[in-house]
Amino acid sequence: MKTYTGLLLVIGLATAAGCKKESSNSSAKTVDPAGKADKPAAPASAEISISCGSVGKDYDTCKSGADLWAKKTGNTVKVVTSPTSSSEKLALAQQMLASGATDVDVFSTDVVWPGILGTFFLDLKEYSAGAEKAHFESIIANNTVDGKLVALPWYTDAGLLYYRKDLLDKYQAQPPTTWEELTATAKKVQDGERKAGNKDLWGFVFQGKAYEGLTCNALEWVASYGGGTIVGNDGKVTINNPEAAAALDLVASWIGTITPSGALNYEEEESRALFQSGKAVFMRNWPYAYQLSQAAESPIKDKVGVTVLPKGSGASARSAATMGGWNLSVSKFSKHPKEAAELALYLTGPEEQKRRAITAGYQPTIKSLYEDKEVLAANPSFAMLQGSFANSVPRPSTATKGLYNQVSSAFFNAVQKVLNKQAKGKDALAELAEKLDGMSHGGKW
Ligand code: GLC
Repeated sequence: MKTYTGLLLVIGLATAAGCKKESSNSSAKTVDPAGKADKPAAPASAEISISCGSVGKDYDTCKSGADLWAKKTGNTVKVVTSPTSSSEKLALAQQMLASGATDVDVFSTDVVWPGILGTFFLDLKEYSAGAEKAHFESIIANNTVDGKLVALPWYTDAGLLYYRKDLLDKYQAQPPTTWEELTATAKKVQDGERKAGNKDLWGFVFQGKAYEGLTCNALEWVASYGGGTIVGNDGKVTINNPEAAAALDLVASWIGTITPSGALNYEEEESRALFQSGKAVFMRNWPYAYQLSQAAESPIKDKVGVTVLPKGSGASARSAATMGGWNLSVSKFSKHPKEAAELALYLTGPEEQKRRAITAGYQPTIKSLYEDKEVLAANPSFAMLQGSFANSVPRPSTATKGLYNQVSSAFFNAVQKVLNKQAKGKDALAELAEKLDGMSHGGKW
C-alpha cells in the first residue's frame, strides 16, 4: 500500500511534467516561419539551479539525483556549491534571499531554518498533491510556518558515537554508556597506544568550531546531564543551571588531554578526517560518516562500531542526540516555481530517498522506507539508529522563531569560552542567560 502511494506520486509527477510540455508546445505553434507546422516543436525546458551541500557525499549524491530528474523531464539543472558549515550556508542564503536574487531556485535548508527563512519560500503544499503525508509528521510540523509548508524533508540526522572496535577489544573496554566512562576509556587507550609508539592517537574528537555544529554537540552534553535545551518550549531561557555547567566543565577538561585543542576549529569533516585516518578512538558525528568509514580505501574499514551517545551523570542523566537533517525549499524569487517545486518533490520523494539511503546512507524521512528490505540491507545500522532517534533532542528553533540563529550563536560562543578555559561553565552560562533574556524580552520571542 505504501509502495503504491509512492508509485502514484512518481506517476503524478511524470504526468504533471507532461502537461507542462503540452501547453508550452501550443504557444510555440503560433509562429511558423519555416512552414514546419506538422513537426512537433521541441518541448520548452527550464534551467533550475539547486544549492547542494558539500559535506561527505552531499554534493555527488545531490547532483546525481538532480541529473536523474533532468533526464526524466527534459529540464536542465545547475548545481551550485555551498559552504560546508551550516552557519555559513545560512548567511549566504540570507544574503541572497534578502536581495531577491534569482540565482538559486531550490535551496537545501537545515531543519532549524524554517522560522528564520520561511517567508522567502513558496508554500509547497500547493504543488505536492499530498506527498508530505508520507513523511514523519514531526518534520512536517517543523517545516510548517504560519500554515505554509516552506520545506520538504530530504533526510534526517541524529548525533552518534563512533568507536574503534579493535582498540576497545585490545584494551578490554566496552563502548562507554556515560561521558565519565568515555573520558576514562579514551585516556586509557590513548595512553597505552602512545606508549606503544602510536604517538598521534587521540581519545575523542567532535565538532568544536564556533558554528552550528558546536551548538548540536553542546546541546547533547547539556541535555544528557538533564540541563535542558537552552530555551524551553514555552520560550523561557533555561540554560543557566548546574547540570549544564557541569557538562561544559567536563568537556573543557578534555581539551588538550583526550581531545586535540585543534578540535575547537573542527567541523564534521575535520573530525572525520582524524578518525578515519585511524588517529582517534572515539568520534561524535552524524550518520553520514559510517558508510565513508567502511569504504574500500578506508584505513579503519571493519574496525568501526556505532552506538548511542553516552549519558551524563546525576538524577536526570540520559542519552541525548541532537536532531538534525536537511530539507529542500523553493525560493519565492524563482522564475520557474513549478519546475523548481517538481525538482524538490522528486529529490525528496520515495524513489530518490531510497537511492540516497542505499548509495550513501542518508536517513530517509519517509516512514515506509524503514520497512524496505534493500534499504535495511545496505544500512544495518538503521535498526540501531531507531534508538538514537528515540533519544533525539530538537534545538529550540521553534520556540525562538526568527531569532534562532542569534540564540545559537550566543550559545556556541559561550560554550567556546568554557572550552578555551576563558570562563567556568557557571559564569559563562549566567552571562549567556542574561543575553538571551534580553534578546527575547523575558521569553517572548
Ligand atoms: C548536520 C545536521 C544539521 C546541523 C549541522 C551542524 O548537517 O543535519 O541539522 O545543523 O549538521 O553542523
